[in-house]
Amino acid sequence: MTGGQPIALGVLVSGSGSNLQAIIDRIEAGGINARIACVISNNPDAFALTRAAEHGIPVAIHENRGFADRRAYDAALVAILRDHGVELVVLAGFMRILSETMVTAFPNAIMNIHPALLPAFPGLNAQKQALDYGVRFSGCTVHFVDCGTDTGPIILQAVVPVEQGDTEESLSARIQQEEHRTYPEAVRLFCQGKIRVEGRHVRILS
Ligand code: GRF
Repeated sequence: MTGGQPIALGVLVSGSGSNLQAIIDRIEAGGINARIACVISNNPDAFALTRAAEHGIPVAIHENRGFADRRAYDAALVAILRDHGVELVVLAGFMRILSETMVTAFPNAIMNIHPALLPAFPGLNAQKQALDYGVRFSGCTVHFVDCGTDTGPIILQAVVPVEQGDTEESLSARIQQEEHRTYPEAVRLFCQGKIRVEGRHVRILS
């Protein structure tokens, strides 16, 4: 790992936070030159908040209600992230679409993980979409966030086979195993300055 100041991450969550946990574990094992400056949830009951607190990470709850629209919500979100000095925003099961306000505040510095091989099956229920379609392989995609839904430049992907008799739950569990490997790796590459975005293409430097 290269030296230098650890990169400040802001992790946005809404639910269980297993991807957050995978990133915490990799940082604590010394595998990523980063620190999680804050975990922000729009859901006060998210288990991810408990995970963060257990590791002494500052948490903030930023609920949906009370904002005129998505831009107003996002402007307040940007302020919280800036207050914590965040350099890379990591969406880890954050169940909101970001507006241009967030995307332009952190250009090529917001990552998301999606449980399918984009551009196949964007949006909600990606695992069910894959099963319904009958694909033999699905997987996960880490990508930068642009103003579309799951359309930004692709950083890393991992392929997962679809087995006969798979249910949404069994396929999701197999995909999550790969998510927990792939997402920390993408964050590591970013923090090492090894990612260049050239239009739609992401180049990984050796
Ligand atoms: C993951 O399946 C991810 O692909 C999707 O949301 C889920 C989050 O799971 N974006 P967790 O909260 O990290 O366990």
